[in-house]
Amino acid sequence: MIKILTIIGARPQFIKAAAISRAINLAFSDRIKEKLLHTGQHYDNNMSGIFFDEMKIPKPDYNLKVGSGSHGKQTAAMIDGLEKVFLKEKPNGVVVYGDTNSTLAAAVAASKLHIPIIHIEAGLRSFNKKMPEEINRILCDHVSTLLFTPTEAGYYNLIGEGFREGNEQPFTADNPKFYHCGDVMYDNCLHFSRLAEAGSSLLDDNGIKNGKFVLVTIHRDNNTDEPKRLTSLFRAIDTISKENEMQIVLPLHPRTSKLLKKNLDKTVYKSIVGNELIKLIPAVSYLDMIALEKGASLIMTDSGGVQKEAYFFKKPCIIFRAQTEWVELVENGNAILVDADYDRIIEGYNTLMAKTDFTYPALFGDGKSAMFICEEIVKNLSLN
Ligand code: UD1
Ligand code: UDP
Repeated sequence: MIKILTIIGARPQFIKAAAISRAINLAFSDRIKEKLLHTGQHYDNNMSGIFFDEMKIPKPDYNLKVGSGSHGKQTAAMIDGLEKVFLKEKPNGVVVYGDTNSTLAAAVAASKLHIPIIHIEAGLRSFNKKMPEEINRILCDHVSTLLFTPTEAGYYNLIGEGFREGNEQPFTADNPKFYHCGDVMYDNCLHFSRLAEAGSSLLDDNGIKNGKFVLVTIHRDNNTDEPKRLTSLFRAIDTISKENEMQIVLPLHPRTSKLLKKNLDKTVYKSIVGNELIKLIPAVSYLDMIALEKGASLIMTDSGGVQKEAYFFKKPCIIFRAQTEWVELVENGNAILVDADYDRIIEGYNTLMAKTDFTYPALFGDGKSAMFICEEIVKNLSLN
């Protein structure tokens, strides 16, 4: 039996972890024993607890309850707590997701104890080291033993950084194995899309008309923390709603919620709050989010996960960033990068609303990535 310790801490990681836990439960419970550790990076019920209940993720065996803080303070507290648990549990491998501070902390603690790291959602790059996530993902990839890239671009990014194809077992941090295997978030979208139809009444409860609204999310630190950028984004949202009589639904990440009044230009803040077409709501559960994504006519976001879900549900997407790790979405014409530029946002909206010739090739795998990952864990970790 292979013992893995899965490290999660932030909202998208609970969602990604659900896919692997589900695959283990379905087909690998005789070969993989999974324990879960929650760092406590996200802790509000609608940022954490709700996902465990709704997605039937097993209750974490550990919760470090680290909470919020500066990058150094938060990451250091996680490393300290993780090291103690790693020494106690002695897992055959540590599974980490994506690029948050929880990912980095686990990568540092596990690599120093020579525990193999399995990085799911490896290889992605924005080529912008001002993003905390870019630093986290680069550092994590370079101490990992098994790396699973969700896209072809991710696979070639790793080759670009010196990862060699054709390494042979046994795999180690010095002799890693990397795969292009598809995206566990696509697995989830297929699985939970059916459940969202029966499991969400959010649209009805809020009087939101199916197919007649734009869904928006904003949480990236450079957008929320820089008053000029936040103001430009909201000014554009305000204009789009008024010029097109379009309802806007915006589930607020707590980071954004806390900074809205402080960082928005006063006139724009007043206009947004007084605009009946704009519905600001607290962050929602995953099934409610899927219902919103499926019901929207267009999605505007700076989220990594939401960009892809827009594609999974065949919605055009405006990306409030200067660059994206999910380059395929832009190259295939499904999404437009607009940064936080007012004019580009308006132009992007008009272009995508008028466009009709979208295509949706299978860029993110076949919906069975979690099964593939578990198979490779079984084949390769037992040798360590
Ligand atoms: C983190 C990740 C980011 C990811 C996002 C997913 C890092 C560096 N960033 O960003 O990559 O896209 O999660 O949502 O790891 N807060 C609450 N309640 C909570 C959680 C957060 O109020 O339950 C507030 C706190 O004021 C906190 C702020 O949000 O300081 C930011 O939280 P933090 O986890 O540091 O970063 P995120 O912006 O959530
Ligand atoms: N999400 C959610 N409720 C919300 C906003 C987002 O369930 O109110 C989900 C969304 O569907 C996606 C994931 O959270 O699966 C994306 O996480 P987030 O935007 O926080 O982080 P990122 O993907 O940018 O790291």
